[in-house]
Amino acid sequence: MFEYMGWGKRNRIRQIVAADDRCLMLAIDHGYFMGPTHGMEIPAKAIQPLLPHIDSLMLSPGILTSSVDEKLRGIGWVLRASGGNSVLEPDIDNEGLILSAKQAVRLNASAIAVSIYAGAEHQHQTFLNLAKAIEDAAEYDLPVLGVTAVGKKLKDKKEKRYLALASRIAAEYGADIVKTYYCDGFEEVVAKCPAPIVVAGGPRLDTYKDVLELTYRAIQEGAIGVDMGRNVWQSEYPAAILQGVRAIIHGNATVKEAMELVESLSTEETRRKELFEVTQEDIAVSSIH
Ligand code: R5P
Repeated sequence: MFEYMGWGKRNRIRQIVAADDRCLMLAIDHGYFMGPTHGMEIPAKAIQPLLPHIDSLMLSPGILTSSVDEKLRGIGWVLRASGGNSVLEPDIDNEGLILSAKQAVRLNASAIAVSIYAGAEHQHQTFLNLAKAIEDAAEYDLPVLGVTAVGKKLKDKKEKRYLALASRIAAEYGADIVKTYYCDGFEEVVAKCPAPIVVAGGPRLDTYKDVLELTYRAIQEGAIGVDMGRNVWQSEYPAAILQGVRAIIHGNATVKEAMELVESLSTEETRRKELFEVTQEDIAVSSIH
């Protein structure tokens, strides 16, 4: 799949995309603009039990150094390299670069992630962020994940035409993998994007079946995997749902088979304990994109 890349880049990308050309990335970078997000309030505690089930983590540099054991092996990490805004602003697209490729390599990153906000007020600047990051990363053969972000004003734009445009632009700039949302007609988004696509989970869905169906359809329609966060962290049984998602991605399980697995793994022992009071405002904030 990545034969055209140099050895260093291929080796790094293989820390996040497994030998079956599929990828299960667990996103815990939400805090870079949302602060201590529901379910991810204490990252070290949240991450630890899930490590055996994932290929890679997507996270910000400060969460890597504070919350991930440096002795950890066998897992890749994708570092968030764009940022500079927060949910306290009217929108979140006014981003710059917050991490250089050199810093990322020093942290042994497998890749960096940069968001673009097509059609938003700061679209131009975010496209140039991606271009700059790709140029910078090329120095080190470091892969770049282009993230098609939507922010507050564009949050209803999770449809085929928009996502195909944003994904294609990220690929045209040279993103090695594109992260976007699943939508009706997703096959077309995949077909029109020359780079492999991973799907974000988005805000928490109502049921586990919804999460598994999203994963199943995304894979069937051409995604190489998911980069999922809130549907794991905010679920009642994070390790169980994650293993269900994994069964679809790496085990070719059907939704029914994955659901049976999730149910069998949902026990008192694997239940997530709510550590803090969660208000309606917390829920609303964590659903803005
Ligand atoms: C923004 O918060 C990040 O880029 C997330 O990594 C991305 O949205 C994936 O996480 P989720 O499945 O929660 O949407």
